[in-house]
Amino acid sequence: MSLSITFDSDARIASEYSASESIQGHWKSFLQTIDDEAIGFFHVNQRKELLQSCMEVFEKFQSRTQFIQVGIGGSSLGPEMLISALGDNKRQFTFMNNIDPDQLALQLDVLDHSKSLFYIVSKSGGTAETSATMAIIANWLRDKGVEEKDLKNHFVFATDPVKSDLHNLGRELGITCLEIPSNVGGRFSVLTPVGFLPALFAGIDCADLLKGAQDIKKDLLNTNLTENILIKTACYLMSLKDKGYNQTVLMPYSSRLRDLSFWFVQLWAESLGKKHNEKGEVVNTGFTPVPAYGATDQHSQVQLFMEGPYDKTLLLVEVEKFANDFKLESNFSTPSFKKLAPHTLGQLMKAELDGTISALKDADRPHLLIKMPEVSAYYLGQLILTLEALTALTGLMLSINTFDQPGVEAGKRYAFQYLEKMGPAC
Ligand code: PA5
Repeated sequence: MSLSITFDSDARIASEYSASESIQGHWKSFLQTIDDEAIGFFHVNQRKELLQSCMEVFEKFQSRTQFIQVGIGGSSLGPEMLISALGDNKRQFTFMNNIDPDQLALQLDVLDHSKSLFYIVSKSGGTAETSATMAIIANWLRDKGVEEKDLKNHFVFATDPVKSDLHNLGRELGITCLEIPSNVGGRFSVLTPVGFLPALFAGIDCADLLKGAQDIKKDLLNTNLTENILIKTACYLMSLKDKGYNQTVLMPYSSRLRDLSFWFVQLWAESLGKKHNEKGEVVNTGFTPVPAYGATDQHSQVQLFMEGPYDKTLLLVEVEKFANDFKLESNFSTPSFKKLAPHTLGQLMKAELDGTISALKDADRPHLLIKMPEVSAYYLGQLILTLEALTALTGLMLSINTFDQPGVEAGKRYAFQYLEKMGPAC
């Protein structure tokens, strides 16, 4: 079984996108992109040795009960999504994904160095936030009496094996280094050791994640282009963008999928928000991603989605079967309880999603529905590859480079200039 995607109205797909000539052109470019050796995300699930190397590291360190992932952006958001969607709660997970000193102090405070494994993840191997945090952890370990020669018992690295200072440091200190393939960008790297090692520590079946990603390819590559969910979704979003709908809300009706929305925010924003098109012309394009989750946001952002500006397309995600359910029967006689009593919590969630869909239709608000049979590694693998492929195809339709991020460089350069001007701390 696969994910399904249905649209509020196929008529919203404008003819300039659905016209077969234009689709054929984009499709050809998409097929070239995913087979381009420099862009590895679509086929990385087939590199079995990447998971194998993580399983060996897991075997070695599996007695550790505290797993700490140190990384930022694509080196943290994917793993955060996996752990909150599928993690088994048997170990303590900490994500050191920012440089807030107060937060870091709180995080370190609850760790026991003898039970901890620090996973330092940086594709480039030189990201300031990650290096700074690692330096602090190394000092903290030293204060606990850990000698430099023993750091290899507390750290594992993941980085690009070709061009990364972190890789060199790992070699110097004898620290195990897992590979982030050079041809997979940070925000597309969740199905690599970036996500695998934390997933193994959280009891997640990585083979199922990869199988899901593999199995959805037959739908993503469906040669009947008028039925292809990927093409239909990209055409739908692009048609709406032309009418001013340049914001994309991802709203899973599931708490466990809440972090999927944050992972998607980075993927969608950093990939598609670009100043220049492929010809070098200034286009200042992109879609603004809006993270949301149901039913909670029905008491928050949904007011805006229903009645605010006509600029948002909603991607709703329905979980068809939750692993757990609860009866709502009770002895309370007040009407609010009595109405609920014959039902279950799962039914209430479904009714609220269906209610929102009907209200969105009435308000003429564009939306599509992704149906996920259950929250499992297999279907999350399908959803991850679907959203990554959608990003790549939409980038081609926007004629931009999906895989770079020049817009974040200027701020970084300034930050280092300011740091230099500040001089050393007293
Ligand atoms: O998608 C990207 O490439 C970025 O958002 C990176 O994930 C982020 O900047 C962190 O980079 P690195 O993994 O090199 O530390």
